[in-house]
Amino acid sequence: MGVEITESPVSDEEFEAMQEFVHDYLQASVETEEEGGRMRWYPWHSAEYRFNHIRNVVDLSVEIARKEGANVDVTRVAALFHDIAKLEAEQDEHAEVGATIAREYLTTHGDYPQSFVEQVAAAVRDHSYQGNLMDLSLETRCLIEADILDKIGANGATLLLLRMGYESRTHMDAAEMVDRVVERGVDAKERIESDAAESIAHRRLKRARWFKEWLEAEVAEMDAGGDPDVDDVDAAER
Ligand SMILES: [Fe+2]
Repeated sequence: MGVEITESPVSDEEFEAMQEFVHDYLQASVETEEEGGRMRWYPWHSAEYRFNHIRNVVDLSVEIARKEGANVDVTRVAALFHDIAKLEAEQDEHAEVGATIAREYLTTHGDYPQSFVEQVAAAVRDHSYQGNLMDLSLETRCLIEADILDKIGANGATLLLLRMGYESRTHMDAAEMVDRVVERGVDAKERIESDAAESIAHRRLKRARWFKEWLEAEVAEMDAGGDPDVDDVDAAER
């Protein structure tokens, strides 16, 4: 399906070393944080959650990049670095800071072509872009689509359910929370451009709807109506 085999500048060993670097970087960001800072009680502010999200985004973006004929190495390395600064920088700066870290890493480890380094850095820098995805490179698009998809799947749903506990809600809010995942899924399908991401979004949306129906069907008085009022911290999860 229009997949071009180009020589990969990043070996599996190199990619593993990058993964370790990103993992340790996130861990160190949390360790140097001041006590109780930056909503640490929310799971997505932990290094474990962030690294796991990054792994999901790497896998999803590679799947999309392969099907869409994007440069897989640019995409997967950008996906790996995209949230590296998430725990140390402010939300509106983390993409730019992440791009700087990625560029620095790639120019000091191995002998990567300058164009490769710049494409990776650009994708990391632009991954928070809120405008039309067609304004961006194909690789950046694959990254953003993967980032969106992780929020509307099992990971996104679990995170919202977990958050109910942190907010002292009861399980009776579960259908509302899952309904929020459904709404996100609908928004995601609007924004996504590639056929590959579209079909993943479609599958995920179907599952979220099914989960909501399941809750409503089996739990007395469970109902997705009302406003779960979770928009305020959505940006923090990107
Ligand atoms: Fe992300």
